[in-house]
Amino acid sequence: MSSNNGKADIALIGLAVMGQNIILNMNDHGFVVCAYNRTVQKVEHFLQNEAKGTNVVGAKSIEEMVSLLKKPRKVMTLVKAGRAVDALIEQLVPLLEAGDIIIDGGNSQYTDTQRRYNELKTKGIYYLGCGVSGGEDGARYGPSLMPGGAAEAWPSLKPIFQSIAAKVGTEPCCDWVGSDGAGHFVKMVHNGIEYGDMQLICEAYHLMKDSLGMSDDEMSSVLKEWNKGELDSFLIEISGDILAYKDSDGQPLLEKIRDAAGQKGTGKWTAISALDFGMPVTLIGEAVFARCLSSLKDERVRASSVLKGPSSAKYTGDKKEFIENIRKALYASKIVSYAQGFMLLREAAKQFNWTLNYGSIALMWRGGCIIRSVFLGNIKSAFDKNPNLESLLLDDFFHSAIDSCQESWRKVVANAVLLGIPTPSFSCALAFYDGYRSSRLPANLIQAQRDYFGAHTYELLSNPGQFIHTNWTGHGGSVSASTYQA
Ligand SMILES: *[C@@H]1O[C@H](CO)[C@@H](O)[C@H](O)[C@H]1NC(C)=O
Ligand SMILES: *[C@@H]1O[C@H](CO)[C@@H](O)[C@H](O)[C@H]1NC(C)=O
Ligand SMILES: *[C@@H]1O[C@H](CO)[C@@H](O)[C@H](O)[C@H]1NC(C)=O
Repeated sequence: MSSNNGKADIALIGLAVMGQNIILNMNDHGFVVCAYNRTVQKVEHFLQNEAKGTNVVGAKSIEEMVSLLKKPRKVMTLVKAGRAVDALIEQLVPLLEAGDIIIDGGNSQYTDTQRRYNELKTKGIYYLGCGVSGGEDGARYGPSLMPGGAAEAWPSLKPIFQSIAAKVGTEPCCDWVGSDGAGHFVKMVHNGIEYGDMQLICEAYHLMKDSLGMSDDEMSSVLKEWNKGELDSFLIEISGDILAYKDSDGQPLLEKIRDAAGQKGTGKWTAISALDFGMPVTLIGEAVFARCLSSLKDERVRASSVLKGPSSAKYTGDKKEFIENIRKALYASKIVSYAQGFMLLREAAKQFNWTLNYGSIALMWRGGCIIRSVFLGNIKSAFDKNPNLESLLLDDFFHSAIDSCQESWRKVVANAVLLGIPTPSFSCALAFYDGYRSSRLPANLIQAQRDYFGAHTYELLSNPGQFIHTNWTGHGGSVSASTYQA
């Protein structure tokens, strides 16, 4: 290796809050980081303020940044996903040499990461896409990190990444995920699951508020209680805080917030991938659609004065018992959601030849990130017991958990339907559960219909693998369709 006078262990491009916080986190752990931003004043401002008194060095140009790096050079980008990443790679590549490493820590689509990985591979440059979760605080004090791409680069990055990551006990919430786009794929599924978890809590809130008429303070206490048990998680915790938060007039701020949810797209990508891979990841899909429906606020307001529901949305049974039923419905639905998420991971791994370690993915999500929870520790144990577990639902721990929640779950969904309170994720999770546990579904009729109108053929139960066509009407063709699919 040629000699060089580089002194920085890693460079980081992109000085928005996430970038700044990752740099400071790396600095805390004894690494020398070179900071760069296209707008050079940002670098100077950062060095004179947030990074004052640290070992962080700044660069005024990409060339200077590269010259300051130890070999193999490691450059991490934390910029807006899309064109900006390609533009930076274009600038970097002529300045780097074989064996150097580029890490995209942004929210890139995994397909972009696959494309960039393949392009850079031909130049001998190691490309990684690394999921980073945990928001600004996580970035500063311990994010969940999901690196994937060129495995050759992992040994030299591992000490940096694992030391800055969140820890559960002494275990870092960061481990190698897999080849090419695997890191960003796992991050995408993480975000999809986050959409699902948030929607589940919203449905519990909706039920407690409308069917039981509970105040925000009462609901806050319930969530704080829930947070001591199986549902112990960051999202339950912050939802409890949100419910308790008062505006300056002493009223709950939450009730003043417009009920139209936004989305940045990663939940949508998870749902799109689920459709692409033919995996029934229904809960995340419903969570995305629930946000879409919420954002039709004006249309809903108009519809609300026309469309009628049941005469009352009030639950008349035992309140305490119903609250406990809601808790169990949430827990059971959450188990289904994670089971679906892991089904998607498994299918992607199959298609892309990734060797995903599901237990270590659960551990990466166990701390640091938005979906962190005690529950992910149970998922880790399930995969530790059986790395080839076909479905989380078949693990002893989870199937007995569902058993103990099942009756409550059904009561909540049935009551929600009768009271006219929408619970799309509770309901679709239950429908999935009932479908998944059915050895026989009505898809025989679908096959017959397809064969009837389009001669698509079907298999007999008694002879799978053999496709046959029936002359259903006595006047149709006997030749099976091969040119169109319905
Ligand atoms: C520069 O910093 C801004 C935030 O201050 C960030 O949005 C942008 O992506 C950065 N760009 C580059 C190329 O460093
Ligand atoms: C995965 O591996 C199989 C068998 O080695 C190969 O045929 C297939 O092309 C590979 N797929 C991808 C996406 O690399
Ligand atoms: C379908 O069945 C009818 C009645 O038996 C027969 O007349 C017709 O020829 C059949 N069609 C074909 C394509 O075999």
